[in-house]
Amino acid sequence: MLILGIESTCDETSAAVVQDGREILAEETASSAEVHRLYGGVFPEMACRRHIDAILPVISSALQKASVFPQDLDAIAVARGPGLIGALLIGLQAAKGLSIAWDKPLIGVNHVEAHLYAAMMAKTPLFPAIGLVLSGGHTLMLEMENAGSYRLISTTVDDAIGEAFDKTATLLGLAYPGGPALEQMAKTGNGAKISFGLPKVKNNPLAFSFSGLKTAALYATKQASQEDYPDIAAAFQETAFADLLRKTRLAMQTRSCRSLVFGGGVCNNRRLRDLFQEQFPGLPQFWPAPGLSADNAAMIAGLGYHKFIASNGQGDPLDLEALPRTPFWN
Ligand code: KG4
Ligand code: ZN
Repeated sequence: MLILGIESTCDETSAAVVQDGREILAEETASSAEVHRLYGGVFPEMACRRHIDAILPVISSALQKASVFPQDLDAIAVARGPGLIGALLIGLQAAKGLSIAWDKPLIGVNHVEAHLYAAMMAKTPLFPAIGLVLSGGHTLMLEMENAGSYRLISTTVDDAIGEAFDKTATLLGLAYPGGPALEQMAKTGNGAKISFGLPKVKNNPLAFSFSGLKTAALYATKQASQEDYPDIAAAFQETAFADLLRKTRLAMQTRSCRSLVFGGGVCNNRRLRDLFQEQFPGLPQFWPAPGLSADNAAMIAGLGYHKFIASNGQGDPLDLEALPRTPFWN
């Protein structure tokens, strides 16, 4: 079964053709990150203008690369949220228009659920599992009964982890989105030289909070010279990841957990993967394949396939709305 996936929740315009929820035949992505770099963060209006320009070209390019004609498709899956409302509407309207023009069912997919699906695309995890979504917009820990049944364990009370990486990277003079550059800078630093306290949320030991850590990094940069910046980057990264490890371990104490499933752009970070693999050596871990951590349409098409099957091939009605905030868990 062939699904066309469309992703436009933030600053990536992406289209992909995926077979049977697993095999990526082609993907085409246009990013407007270089525009946002000038502003130090995503500028929604600029993102929307770029989506409008890019959406049809990325779709036709993905189809061409996959050697798939519109009539070969079984359905069109689109990320309906969460994300920037204007950006979501552009992907959704394109998907609806093509659904009518090509007479193909439409399927709405939750972008954050798709981030977790990205890690399950190649291989099905062992359930029950604990899922961690670590992205620029979200930090979530979830109990997963199976692929499709989620219960929220905890989330962040302030910044998302990727957002904290990006803001701290800006303090260290790195261009937006600075997460990957901060990881590189941290490699040349010594995190042990600076001690940042582990984040704590009052009365909620499993909740995340990264804004205090970012502020601690701010004060450290004010007292430091530029050659100390790598130490600050390393201390920030080590503390943020120690917090994830500690809270995952704590959550596992009261839940059965046969594997860990990861999703979101921060999963590109090699140090994060090494730490989890070191600290949970016997526990199977499912990480997104290269190219599937950050925003992409393959994960949307992949999850869309399962939603399409679950709807008995009906898909969603054409008045499907964008959902900028609605959660996907119980
Ligand atoms: O999943 P994603 O592409 O977008 C959202 O749905 O938010 O995640 C983007 C986030 C950005 O904050 C980016 O800096 C962060 O993922 N990121 C990283 C790394 N690569 C991307 N953070 C830390 N280390 C990395 N290597
Ligand atoms: Zn995302």
